[in-house]
Amino acid sequence: MAKLIGGLGSSHVPSIGAAMDKGLTQTEDWKPFFDGIGPGRDWVAANRPDVAVVVFNDHGNSFFLDKVPTFAIGCAERYDPIDEGWGPRAIPSFEGHAELGWHIIDRMVENRFDPMIVQEIEVDHGIQVPMELFFGKPDKAWPVRVVPVFVNVIQYPIPLPSRCYELGQVLRRAIESFPGDERVVVIGTGGLSHQLQGARAGFTNPEADREFLRDIASNPGRLAALSREDYVRLFGSEGAELMMWLVMRGAMDPDVVVKHSHYFVPASMTGAGMLVLENRVA
Ligand code: DHB
Ligand code: FE
Repeated sequence: MAKLIGGLGSSHVPSIGAAMDKGLTQTEDWKPFFDGIGPGRDWVAANRPDVAVVVFNDHGNSFFLDKVPTFAIGCAERYDPIDEGWGPRAIPSFEGHAELGWHIIDRMVENRFDPMIVQEIEVDHGIQVPMELFFGKPDKAWPVRVVPVFVNVIQYPIPLPSRCYELGQVLRRAIESFPGDERVVVIGTGGLSHQLQGARAGFTNPEADREFLRDIASNPGRLAALSREDYVRLFGSEGAELMMWLVMRGAMDPDVVVKHSHYFVPASMTGAGMLVLENRVA
């Protein structure tokens, strides 16, 4: 059976991708953020996953507000990076793990989650940036196949944080009942605190971010029990993306080891972080 070897968390701020594209990672502004990325990359290189199940939200690029699935799972052979308006980025397409995607969909339906089934879609910075942070920019091909898990955190009503956590528990059972010997990581993306619009535009909450990075490992039940309104209040309207880290956390054992944790604020307008978790019993 496939094996879950780790849970990773990462911000997906688009200007992190632009900084990598433009060779700005060592500038005064960006160095403190990129200095904390190395250990995450090293963990991935040492642990050699074959598949990344990447939990992220589309940002009105592939799903617009007229049609937004609450949960959607990719079961395509390939996902092209979408051009978000600044021209195509020089990164390869993502090879999909279609069989695992279908298997996850099947198990979700059996467990009374009913996702949208996605056989063709282009993918935005929500997956592009975390993949590049953990795997580096490949010349030809990414070293893993991907299964995208889309969560609506854009168009209200968004799902409950507790529902995201439960989805992670179903994902875990789906991964570990997949006939194969793949080594799988689950990556939760988004956040940390940011608000890009409205009266609180520019809002960040470093204290709440640091508490989130601590509790997502040691007390995820507290974070899963918060309301959606708590997420918006504590982390900002876009910081509510953080509830997608609960999907990743729900896939892990209750008892985890933190292999790496990094926080820097602000990356663009956002508290930015990276997290690497392993189950305590390997
Ligand atoms: C920013 C952060 C995001 O998560 C996002 O999706 C878009 C922009 C930002 O901080 O610029
Ligand atoms: Fe985002």
